[in-house]
Formats: sequence, C-alpha cells, structure tokens
Amino acid sequence: MAGPVPELEDRATRCARRLCEADRVLLASHIDADGLTSAAIAAQALERAGLPFETVFEKQLDEEAIAAIAATDYDTVLFTDFGSGQLDVIGEHEDAGAFTPVIADHHQPADRDTEYHLNPLLFGIDGASELSGAGASYVLARALADLEPGVAADGGATGAAGTTTARADNRDLAALAVVGAVGDMQASGGELQGANERIVEEGVDAGVLETGKDLALYGKQTRPLPKLLEYATDVGIPGISGDEAGSLRFLEDLDLELRREDGEWRRWSGLTSEEKQTVASALVRRAVSRGVPAKKIDQLVGTSYVLSAEPVGTELRDASEFSTLLNATARYERADVGLGVCLGNRSDALERARKLLRNHRRNLSEGIDLVTREGVTHEAHLQWFHAEDRIRETIVGIVAGMAMGNEGISRSKPIVAFAEKTDDEVKVSARGTHGLVRDGLDLSTVMTEASRAVDGDGGGHDVAAGATVPAGREAEFVERADEIVGEQLS
Ligand code: C5P
Ligand code: C5P
Ligand code: C5P
Ligand code: ZN
Repeated sequence: MAGPVPELEDRATRCARRLCEADRVLLASHIDADGLTSAAIAAQALERAGLPFETVFEKQLDEEAIAAIAATDYDTVLFTDFGSGQLDVIGEHEDAGAFTPVIADHHQPADRDTEYHLNPLLFGIDGASELSGAGASYVLARALADLEPGVAADGGATGAAGTTTARADNRDLAALAVVGAVGDMQASGGELQGANERIVEEGVDAGVLETGKDLALYGKQTRPLPKLLEYATDVGIPGISGDEAGSLRFLEDLDLELRREDGEWRRWSGLTSEEKQTVASALVRRAVSRGVPAKKIDQLVGTSYVLSAEPVGTELRDASEFSTLLNATARYERADVGLGVCLGNRSDALERARKLLRNHRRNLSEGIDLVTREGVTHEAHLQWFHAEDRIRETIVGIVAGMAMGNEGISRSKPIVAFAEKTDDEVKVSARGTHGLVRDGLDLSTVMTEASRAVDGDGGGHDVAAGATVPAGREAEFVERADEIVGEQLS
C-alpha cells in the first residue's frame, strides 16, 4: 500500500495558501474526462473555501490560450490537468506580472519551474500511472480544506453525497479523482496503483467509493448482458466476443433467469453475487476450452471502482462509464455539460450528456471500423494512419488506442494517428502499451522532439502523447518519430 508523500502534500499546502490569498481565482482546465473531474474537484474545493472563481476550458493550452488568460483581470490562475508542459510560456506572463499561476497537473513539465507547482513527477511519482490531473487537484483540495476547515463544513450543496466530515475535509471528492484517473487509463493494468491507491482508500472511508474484484468488462452498469459480452473484444473469447448470436446463445444456455419479465435482458450491475459468479465461471470455462491464453483470461477479472452514492444501472456508478460520459461532452465542445454532471446536476446536464454519449459511441465505433478497414502504414518502429477530416481530432487518440490489436494493427509498435485540425494544422495522437514503456518507449519525448523538428508542438505521457504540426509536414514527422522510437527501443 502506498504511503503518504510528505513533499507532495507540503507543496499542495503551499499552493493552497496562495489560493487563499486571492480575492478571486480563474480556474482553467483541459477538455477531457480527467480535465473535467479536475475542474469539478477544484471548483468544489474553492467554493467550500469561500473563494470566488470562474471556470474556463481549453482544448489545448497553447500560446494563444495562455495570452487570452493573461489578458483577463484575474491575478491568480489555477491550471488543472495542464500547465506543467507550458511552464515556459506561462512563466513569461508571470515575469511580466500578468498573473500568478498555481498548477495542479501530471504532464511532463517544460524546462522551467514555478513556486506553486503541484505535479507528481516532481516528487518521484509517475504521472502516467500513479496520479492524474484529478488526483493532483484532489491533493490540493485536501490541503485547502485543512487550511479552511470551518468554512468547508457547511459549504455549497453540490456534488456527490458523503458524510459531513467527508465534506468538511473534501474526502468526498475522491470519487471524482478516481473517475479522472480511470479516464486517463491509469487503471489499465487491472487496478489503480501508487498515490491513486491512497485516494481510493480515502474514498472508501468517506463512503463514496466501493471497490472489489469483478468482471473487467466495459459497461457493467448500463449494457444489457449480451451487449456487455459481445462488445468485450479486448480479451477475445471465440464464439462470444464480436459475436451477437454467440453471446445470446451462451447466456441462454446458462441455467439462470437473465431476462426481465418484459423480455429485456438484465444488466451485470443488477445480478446477485451468485448469478455473477455463475456467468463469470462459465465465461472462464469457455475461454479455457477455446484455448485463450491464461494471461488473457486473467484480464477478465480486475478491480472495479463503484461510486456508491450514484444510482445502480447508471453511467455515473461505474468509474469507467462515467469517464466515457465525460469525454462525450468535453471532446465535443460541451465541457459545461460534463462539469454540470460532475457537480451534481442530475437532470438537465445528465440528459444532455447521454445524448452526447450516443453520438460519441457512434463516432468511436465508426472511427475504429475505418482504421481497421483501411489499415495502417508500418514503418520500422511505429505504425501510422491519417484520418484527414474523417475522425474528429479530439477523439482520434482514443480511436487509435482502441484499434490497437485489431486485424493488421500491431500491439508491439506504437501507433501514430493524424487528423485535420484547421486548414493549416494537423493534430497528432500517439498511443503505446505498458509493455513498450517497460522496454524504453517514451511517447512524450517522441512527440516533443519530432514536432519540434517540423515547427510543431507536442507533449504528454510516456504511454500516450500528442502534438500539433503544420499541414503537409506529416511525412517528415513520421520519419523523425520513427528514428526516435527506434533509439528508445534499441
Ligand atoms: O491529457 P491527457 O493526460 O489527459 O490524456 C490522457 C489520454 O491518454 C487519454 O485519452 C487516455 O485514454 C490516454 N492514455 C492511454 N493509455 C494510458 C494512459 C493514457 O491511452 N495508459
Ligand atoms: O472514451 P474513453 O477514452 O473514456 O474510453 C476508455 C476505454 O473505455 C476505452 O479504451 C475502451 O476500452 C472503453 N470503451 C468501450 N466502449 C465505449 C467507450 C469506451 O469499451 N463505448
Ligand atoms: O489528444 P490526445 O488524447 O492524443 O493526447 C494525449 C496526451 O498528449 C494528453 O495527455 C495531452 O494532454 C497530450 N498532448 C500534449 N500536447 C499536444 C497534444 C496532446 O501535451 N499538442
Ligand atoms: Zn490528465
């Protein structure tokens, strides 16, 4: 079990103190699940501390976005889930007296530091797998509550349920921190690790989280059972994964009542533990009998993160489904909707988010089909595709990651995806695997250096990173990126 990290907490306290000196704060965050949960955590912590604030979201914190922030009247700007990678530019505005930055981030920092900078990477904690932007924001929120205990106890009425004490010390916000970490794929090895584990423990203590071993498939809350099994292609069980009729037959052959009285299929979240056990054992038996390797079968079970205050059968109860719901808002210019859901707006915002989710799902599935059908181009050390305007640049990275392992798309090389951003700019998203990272892959460096070579700009994490490059320079970019990956993996 990971213990506390005093240096990280000291830094959080320093940042919290600075926030408390402000008359008001501009909160700026990133447009994905981790960025939204970061903003929701920070917003509730600021509100409970009695600090007035306004929230803005940016697709990317580039020079233009930072200049726009500097042009506002705010003297204190809290950046969450980004800011570290842009510290060089932010620092220039700080030097010019435009604002004081406070940063809660987990991305690779630029070559410059600042006084109020909270980032796990500064303290030996892995920002790609052990603490997310929402996690860093949570550590900051806890520090804020320690400074302002009285105010927080009867603060605003937003957010998930939790006991009064959990609200007083902001531990009830741990549920959102877990959604952020899961949304950034930090649980992709089966469970959350390191500093994230402590947040999970605090959430369990606070009564907002439940965790345990469970089937590791996406959609346990909302997907009818046959769809849950059919769409679970990561493990690949012959005759079930990707096989509608096969999934139906498998479930019908079990000696269980898996349909409701109206004939509709039940969902995993509504099964009793005996029923779950029966289905899971039958799945494992089927996988074994069809020769699925033991290592793959192990991946059928993982640690689940359940938001215990949310209603059973909704996206909000499962950390992974919640994070997808948030991506479906923020990556389509509706961060306001996702933030509303995080802050407890369970009517309007949730209904809107669900509509956006249907659209997001269709786009993901069409995107994955497109990439799989058209295939990728294999270089010596990486593979790539160019979606042009056929996949939205804000989701091309998710599509690339989900397409890995499909026919013709290797999991032993990183994948680089291009999509049009503007008339003269192209978005690049790169995704690797944890195995490749263990062998030396660092996509953050690849994206930073290869984009710099073509007058672009990039960054991110070892396992997932991105860049913006000038249109027309993709071939040069691929050549440079391929060389760097080759050096890293040699
Ligand atoms: O901004 P940033 O940290 O938020 O984005 C993280 C992105 O990287 C997400 O889209 C997530 O799906 C991806 N990622 C991944 N595999 C990991 C870690 C992150 O695909 N192991
Ligand atoms: O969209 P997001 O990046 O949150 O997706 C995280 C993971 O959830 C994906 O990599 C995928 O494994 C899973 N997912 C899925 N079906 C969806 C959406 C997401 O299996 N419709
Ligand atoms: O956009 P995408 O999901 O591919 O981003 C993957 C990771 O790369 C994210 O953490 C994102 O913040 C980072 N990134 C970056 N600079 C860019 C584009 C993406 O640091 N220009
Ligand atoms: Zn993040």
